[in-house]
Amino acid sequence: MIAPLTLTALITVAFSDPPVSTAVAEKTTITVRADEPGKPISRDLFGIFFEDINDAADGGLYAELVQNRSFEYSPKTRRGWRTLTAWEFVERDGGKGTITVEQEAPIHVNNPHYAMLTIQSDGDRVGLRNEGFGGIAVKAGEEYTVSLFSRQLDGAAGPIKVRLEKRDGGLLAEAELEKPSGEWKRSAAALRPTAACDDARLVVLATSPGRLALDMVSLFPRATFHNRPNGLRADLATTIAELKPRFVRFPGGCLVHGDGLDNMYRWKDTVGPVERRRGQRNLWGYDQTVGLGFFEFFQFCEDIGARPLPVLPSGVCCQFRRTRPDGTRTAGQLGVPESEMPAQVQDVLDLIEFANGPVGTPWGAMRAAAGHPAPFNLQYLAIGNEEQITPVFEQRFRMIHDAVKRRHPEITLIGTAGPGPGGKDFDAGWKLADALRLPIIDEHYYEKPEWFLGHLGRYDKYDRNRSKVYLGEYAAHERNRRSTLRSALAEAAYMTSLERNGDLVRMASYAPLLGKIGHTQWNPNLIYFTNTAIRPTINYYVQQLFGRNVGDVYLANTVDTDEWATGLTASSVRESRTGHIILKLVNNGDSARPLHIELAGVKSLGPSATATVLTGDPKAVNSPDGSTRIEPRNATIPVAASFDYELPAHALAVIRVESR
Ligand code: AHR
Repeated sequence: MIAPLTLTALITVAFSDPPVSTAVAEKTTITVRADEPGKPISRDLFGIFFEDINDAADGGLYAELVQNRSFEYSPKTRRGWRTLTAWEFVERDGGKGTITVEQEAPIHVNNPHYAMLTIQSDGDRVGLRNEGFGGIAVKAGEEYTVSLFSRQLDGAAGPIKVRLEKRDGGLLAEAELEKPSGEWKRSAAALRPTAACDDARLVVLATSPGRLALDMVSLFPRATFHNRPNGLRADLATTIAELKPRFVRFPGGCLVHGDGLDNMYRWKDTVGPVERRRGQRNLWGYDQTVGLGFFEFFQFCEDIGARPLPVLPSGVCCQFRRTRPDGTRTAGQLGVPESEMPAQVQDVLDLIEFANGPVGTPWGAMRAAAGHPAPFNLQYLAIGNEEQITPVFEQRFRMIHDAVKRRHPEITLIGTAGPGPGGKDFDAGWKLADALRLPIIDEHYYEKPEWFLGHLGRYDKYDRNRSKVYLGEYAAHERNRRSTLRSALAEAAYMTSLERNGDLVRMASYAPLLGKIGHTQWNPNLIYFTNTAIRPTINYYVQQLFGRNVGDVYLANTVDTDEWATGLTASSVRESRTGHIILKLVNNGDSARPLHIELAGVKSLGPSATATVLTGDPKAVNSPDGSTRIEPRNATIPVAASFDYELPAHALAVIRVESR
């Protein structure tokens, strides 16, 4: 590689619009300095960022199949929504009754609404039908757990019937729940559909006259990811796990600071029995149940071998958009009143206790009661997300920072550097990081592919004595916000620069992670999905190839050409655990690149290497219906201490060489 410092100005010019389009036919030699000790790099470099945006949680990763299970949807969140959204009152075969939504004596104050069926005529045909999140998808012969809370107010209680039906009413599965009593009580049964159906309904029927209260009507597949109760959708969670992320940042993004002081993310509302959690209006325009709450996030991290990286609010709301309590919109940052800040600081300390504290502590006991007595080994904690760095912000951030530093010096705190790659809040965020000697600061940028190719030297120039960097959100945005191969390769090229700077850049995560097709507030996303299908983007495979091929030592390399200016980008790492050398080669040009690769100092090699290649038409996208798809392909290639390799046009190739 040519010294990046001297190349920066040239690169910026060379890669400004239009993109690279060079025809280079001569062989380029890349020499990997395997004879030098190399530079240790972060072991946590590539991870993921989960935010509940685009229906990523309810109707997405969270495996609950009933929509609005606790009758808490509100028109304040979305015009047309109401407490009975996704529900239909049913009277069948002459059954007669009414339905109301009540608030008196709910299961818990955090879950104030419930449905009340008043059944007038005898029979078993009065009840409720739920449409799920655009239909309930069930598989033949699989087990589903249906559960609900009920309370009989008047009349003799009869058993409650639960049915899975096709949209036209055809029966798929049926069970009977025990009779309700005069107190709120949970009952559950197993349902096993006789046929597969993508558009099923869950029907709950009362069987005797009187008044019957129902709440928390729920349907889960038994086979969730790792078979966790209240768990995650297995296919989606597996697709995420296959990225091999080293960390998971959660639960947002802008979701964390909210669009007003009333809907900041309060982690304590998201733990404990699900019927006691406080769902709330999500800044992305829908109600969230928080059934996927902090316990489930920590457990997911553990299940996939990733470090948890929770983000907590810094005590201010979003500066860009604010929803007033009456539902009208405005803008401008607001701070949590000073009198409430001690409680907010305590929330942060309590989260550390929830994650790591002994079971004898109040929050450690809460974790144990949820089924996890062992600590979750929390190491990283981020405070804030893209906030405007005002005196109001700074005062609150410092209060949290000082308390965590004093009480938990073992925790690595992460600050925020605004929403862009530079500018006022970026500079002010860094200034504050300098003043506090923050270990890590979180940068975000969504830019054109050309921007990424033009800034390959960004981190080469950073002062190593300042805070380390977490690139918490980034993505290359085409003008039409489509996830093209071109955008994926711009990210791949940039990721080679993150590896090269892996001593400084401790972590990086693409954003956002999930987008439910037809329900997106933001594009592009890394993984698209429907109720039944998963559609990874080409960019997903770039993340996967880097995630599966991280090293812990960066090996310097030299390229005998103006590599970046000709659309070629390379990085080389060693995976000490196996001794493998891993090369990542990115060609953003229109022509194949004949390469000669020298592995300097390598004494013994395996007979061959694997080359995993992602290539195709730069304008291609992985289509939402799955009909067109670009995926990596594996090949075995012969290797020696020096070997030739032809890198296709518009390609990322990951070459893994067994060496000693
Ligand atoms: O990733 C989507 C949003 O982009 C995040 O919530 C926010 O942090 C950023 O502006």
